[in-house]
Amino acid sequence: MANIRLENVTKRFGRVTALQSINLEIHHGEFFCVLGPPGAGKTTLLRLIVGLEKPDAGTIYIDGEPVNDVHPRNRDIAMIFQNLALYPDKTVFDNIAFPLRERKLPAEQIKARVAQVARMLHIEHLLERKPGKLSGGERQRVAIARALVRTPRAYLMDEPLANLDALLRLEMRIELKRLQEQLNETLVYVTSDQVEAMSMADRIAVLYKGVVQQCDTPDNVYNLPANRRVATIVGSPPMNFLTCQVQRTDGQLNLVHSGFGFRVIGSDHPLWDCLCRALPAVQEVLVGVRPEDIRLYPEQPTDVIAFPARVAVSEPLGAETIVDVQLGRDIIKVITPPTQYFAEKQPVWVAFDMAKVHVMDVQTGARIYTTGAPEQLQCILPGTCA
Ligand SMILES: Nc1ncnc2c1ncn2[C@@H]1O[C@H](COP(=O)(O)OP(=O)(O)OP(=O)(O)O)[C@@H](O)[C@H]1O
Ligand SMILES: [Mg+2]
Repeated sequence: MANIRLENVTKRFGRVTALQSINLEIHHGEFFCVLGPPGAGKTTLLRLIVGLEKPDAGTIYIDGEPVNDVHPRNRDIAMIFQNLALYPDKTVFDNIAFPLRERKLPAEQIKARVAQVARMLHIEHLLERKPGKLSGGERQRVAIARALVRTPRAYLMDEPLANLDALLRLEMRIELKRLQEQLNETLVYVTSDQVEAMSMADRIAVLYKGVVQQCDTPDNVYNLPANRRVATIVGSPPMNFLTCQVQRTDGQLNLVHSGFGFRVIGSDHPLWDCLCRALPAVQEVLVGVRPEDIRLYPEQPTDVIAFPARVAVSEPLGAETIVDVQLGRDIIKVITPPTQYFAEKQPVWVAFDMAKVHVMDVQTGARIYTTGAPEQLQCILPGTCA
């Protein structure tokens, strides 16, 4: 088990800054995901931890000890690479045993350890085969077994499931999570798949253009995203963002969009001060609402305030339907149950879950405020918006 800490770590490749002042602490026994789009710097981060790259600035600590000048071999960290490679002319047994043979362990001990790891990954029956005669998922398991076999201080995995088909990925996701719980070892897992990160991680670091945008539990990353970038990377389809005018009239503060309006009630409201202070220089904010936190009604509902809109496109996905709706001058995405049918151009009424509305800075994208209860922002009836 290991605790891994990065302090102000920066890595450049020529003019490209792959990682910028990274500060992270990965705890003992944690399933830690690094989530980010292609080119975010995920692989570079792992290569720095394992010792294949040196930081240009900052320090990496393993169990409190600075390791910038420690050779990869002596860091004792196993890495499963993005493009895993097994030795094609060795059997599965020999592939898995390879790291132990390199360390010149006695044959009996090697045999016992390989058997143990093979059992853990359900590949005992494959030990005599060559990699060419394995399925993609089986090959993946062998690669993982090879990393597990030598009980290092921590495991790093670089998109290990990226090349598998959807069903196998799902299966391996569950197995990896189970395996990590069983091993109780530190695992740093890199992925560009938000579902993988959300379903497996104890904590997620969202990386974008070499900068950690947020490092938090899956729950917080999803419900309290630090900024617009995080809210776009996590969630599918991503959060809707609607630019609203901040209007202060007659002692009232309103957020006004071409299709809806919200009222900030009372000068003791958490939003009041920061928005009033920003006026008149900043006259806009972004309102963010997730597609699953919006409801569509074919008729005007009587129990909630809803805003008139029109269906643009409907995309049935089986378990749910994603409906694009023209609301004022913007198009928003709404997840609806498949039982509800909406035709193109159909007039609809849009109601927001008012306990899940985010307000973000229009310039920086930083989240300023999230409602936690329905009464924290009041809908302004259509027609009364300016
Ligand atoms: N050896 C290198 N030389 C020059 N630039 C590099 C090198 N390695 C990485 N980069 C650059 O650093 C940035 C981060 O790369 P990295 O491979 O860490 O991204 P990633 O998040 O792993 O992306 P992907 O999801 O595509 O694997 C990219 O802009 C990449 O082009
Ligand atoms: Mg990569």
